[in-house]
Amino acid sequence: MSKVRATNRRSWLRRGFATASSLALGASMVALAAPANAAGCSVDYQVNSWGSGFTASVTITNLGSALSNWTLEWDFPGNQQVTNLWNGSYSQSGQHVSVDNAPYNGSVGEGGTVNFGFNGSYSGSNDIPTSFSLNGVTCDGSVDPDPPTDPTDPPTDPTDPPTDPTDPPTDPTDPPTDPGERVDNPFVGAQGYVNPVWSAKAAAEPGGSAVANESTAVWLDRIGAIEGNDSATTGSMGLRDHLDEAVAQADGDPLVIQVVIYNLPGRDCAALASNGELGPEEIDRYKNEYIDPIADIMSDYAQYDNLRIVNIIEIDSLPNLVTNTTDNAGGTELCDQMKANGNYVNGVGYALATLGDIPNAYNYVDAAHHGWIGWDTNFGPSAEIFYEAANASGATVDDVHGFIANTANYSALEEPYLDVNGTVNGQMIRQSDWVDWNQYVDELSFAQDLRQELVSVGFNSDIGMLIDTSRNGWGGPERPTGPSSATDLNTYVEESRIDRRFNPGNWCNQAGAGLGERPTAAPEPGIDAYVWAKPPGESDGASEYIENDEGKGFDEMCDPAYGGNARNGNSPSGALPNAPISGHWFSAQFQELLANAYPPL
Ligand code: BGC
Repeated sequence: MSKVRATNRRSWLRRGFATASSLALGASMVALAAPANAAGCSVDYQVNSWGSGFTASVTITNLGSALSNWTLEWDFPGNQQVTNLWNGSYSQSGQHVSVDNAPYNGSVGEGGTVNFGFNGSYSGSNDIPTSFSLNGVTCDGSVDPDPPTDPTDPPTDPTDPPTDPTDPPTDPTDPPTDPGERVDNPFVGAQGYVNPVWSAKAAAEPGGSAVANESTAVWLDRIGAIEGNDSATTGSMGLRDHLDEAVAQADGDPLVIQVVIYNLPGRDCAALASNGELGPEEIDRYKNEYIDPIADIMSDYAQYDNLRIVNIIEIDSLPNLVTNTTDNAGGTELCDQMKANGNYVNGVGYALATLGDIPNAYNYVDAAHHGWIGWDTNFGPSAEIFYEAANASGATVDDVHGFIANTANYSALEEPYLDVNGTVNGQMIRQSDWVDWNQYVDELSFAQDLRQELVSVGFNSDIGMLIDTSRNGWGGPERPTGPSSATDLNTYVEESRIDRRFNPGNWCNQAGAGLGERPTAAPEPGIDAYVWAKPPGESDGASEYIENDEGKGFDEMCDPAYGGNARNGNSPSGALPNAPISGHWFSAQFQELLANAYPPL
């Protein structure tokens, strides 16, 4: 299957979010929403061709104000002919195609997406259309704050009274309308914050300047990081320094800064590489010395209503309570303790409630990845525990803007040559050693389904997902270029999968991994953005014990010689050798990520 992506994601990537940076949302003082009649769009056109026929999936992102009906038009570059179309109605004349909404999908809010699909025939080459227009406006990712009125609109009634010239002009010092209102998808129409500390390290690497201007998250991985403690991980910049710098980078336009909240009591209960500074019972210190000061600082920036603070809440914590207590193979007593004392649930609830009070902050809760909670037995229970945390310590579901999958992990975004519902020689792909009955083989399908599950357990229906694509590219010479022709199930899966890990449970400094999709806003339905939450080049953990004052232990999963345990199917760890402790710069890993980037750099 060839998946071609045609979009207007050209080079708008000033700092990160591809659909974003060229957008001017009108008067920046009131930049929370597009002007009432603004128009703009981007189109994601994916096609799967098989010689004479093809299927296309088209996703429109509305970057302008809300629409109540839409028409998308394009010209095919060749002799393609639409044969049938769903989620809309079409007409084709020569190369020109026009698609109108179906009766049920005409309404698309600001930042919203709508998808339709069609089958087509062609001969020769199946090149993708180069330009689309939505209701007459070219979809190039920009927003026209004042598009021309439809010439077929009835003229204004000439008897309308003229505007009273004595009307008082709007007071420029008026507070923006409803500053407490969050936008649906904070990544749309916003550039992404470039962390100068990470950027300098990336730029100093050979070849690193190609990505040094990407947006990566700021990790507050200990109390000292709030003020900036000159440590190897955070450098000298504290939270306030980053927010000041973000205001400067924003320069009056919308900007997203991602902050990882990562300091729970008894952190990383199933692994050791990222154990933290707070003991399992130190929930009060978490609240008083960590979350409260962060909230105080962020609140000082609430007046910058074009600064969108995305808080990524507590990586790998809640899923540990589902899968890594000792009633599971390979579970740990620390996870038992964290489940019994409630400090993960209450800590996450406290973070959500406290940070959720900041009008320009958006909370996204960590939701592990498909290779962790993609099995039926873990999927539903994880959604339940997220819901419990979202209602703990004064939090409500309104404090949750969305969830993030794959933070600091390596799971592929899409496995183009592996259909989890398929069979080989009469055997289900799901029963292969690699898939091992998981419901998913990749993150995009997992994140989209998990979103539905979360809504069904009680989260708001407009939550959005983020996927960390910082290290899930799986390019380079080892990447398969098509499905295997083997008839043996396991050989087929091994030869078809792009994820080259020994086991999907492997998580430490993976050999063969590459940079994944560059940060992109609204890439797929239900997905608010692809982000680089884990800054590429920062270690997941030391390959042998290294003394440190950060509370970090040594986890054998980071030792390349380790043969594995129950949690990774007793497979080799696949880790790169000579790694420093987690969070510290690991040049060899950064080089590996550049070499295996996919899409290639
Ligand atoms: C480490 C943190 C670090 C983060 C980002 C985590 O594994 O424990 O110290 O800030 O990765 O690199």
